[in-house]
Amino acid sequence: MTRPQFVLFGSSIVQLSFGNGGWGANLTDLYARKADIVLRGYSGWTSRCALQVLDKVFPKDAGVQPSLVITYFGGNDSIGPHPSGLSPHVPLSEYVDNMRKIATHLKGLSETTRLIFLGAPPVNETLIQESKRLTSCTFLKDLVRTNELCGKYSRALIELCREMDVKVIDLWTAIQKKNDWLTTCFTDGIHLTAEGSNIVTEEILKVLKEANWEPSLHWESMEAEFSEINPFGPVNSDGILALNPSEWDFHRNVQWK
Ligand SMILES: *[C@@H]1O[C@H](CO)[C@@H](O)[C@H](O)[C@H]1NC(C)=O
Ligand SMILES: *[C@@H]1O[C@H](CO)[C@@H](O)[C@H](O)[C@H]1NC(C)=O
Ligand SMILES: *[C@@H]1O[C@H](CO)[C@@H](O)[C@H](O)[C@H]1NC(C)=O
Repeated sequence: MTRPQFVLFGSSIVQLSFGNGGWGANLTDLYARKADIVLRGYSGWTSRCALQVLDKVFPKDAGVQPSLVITYFGGNDSIGPHPSGLSPHVPLSEYVDNMRKIATHLKGLSETTRLIFLGAPPVNETLIQESKRLTSCTFLKDLVRTNELCGKYSRALIELCREMDVKVIDLWTAIQKKNDWLTTCFTDGIHLTAEGSNIVTEEILKVLKEANWEPSLHWESMEAEFSEINPFGPVNSDGILALNPSEWDFHRNVQWK
């Protein structure tokens, strides 16, 4: 028996998602005994980097294919070009092409591999400038990352996903709906605090609940593994183990074996 696998694939917003009250940790907690949450996050990567290793991270002939892949690239792609040509910048049309190739590959893994793409979250530009002041690297200081550019890449991804019938979460809009998003959602203007991450978790759960996927991948609809075997469960008045949790009646004199 194999437990369904959910893979989180993307750049730093994914790599960091298990720390600091992150959304990956949220999902791991909610899906305990229901799905294995597998982290495949690579800080600093763009969609161009992702394409190079797609076959290695998601081989077509793997014994077990993921039930769900949550993918995020775009933040680094949307950074403006640098005169040296060394910026992580990926032009918008190439970004869309790359994401199309990633979606096509992931869809082809199995009939039941479901996808959710995350659009680039917004940024607090002032906070980015402040964080950059601490670095002595002039190259980093020269890189331009604006909220408007994040929005542009996010809108392009949403359009692609609609066209390809892939579920997509508009984090750029969802996070900016929170009144105090500029001061509560980021650690350094880009990366998410627990409060920022909580919005990501809620948006993902909304998609999982509303999707008409068979079988449903929402945690409340999934069975807990081995829920029928509980050697230390309560026994009923005849001393027989109450195997089915619905038989447990905690208001009566339940004894624990
Ligand atoms: C995510 O985790 C944080 C930190 O542990 C917690 O405060 C929050 O309620 C969790 N969010 C969800 C939707 O489970
Ligand atoms: C790429 O983006 C990540 C956050 O998504 C950030 O930590 C990193 O600094 C960015 N890379 C550059 C070169 O700005
Ligand atoms: C960005 O974050 C800083 C620090 O939390 C805050 O002072 C500032 O008001 C925020 N907003 C903008 C637009 O910079």
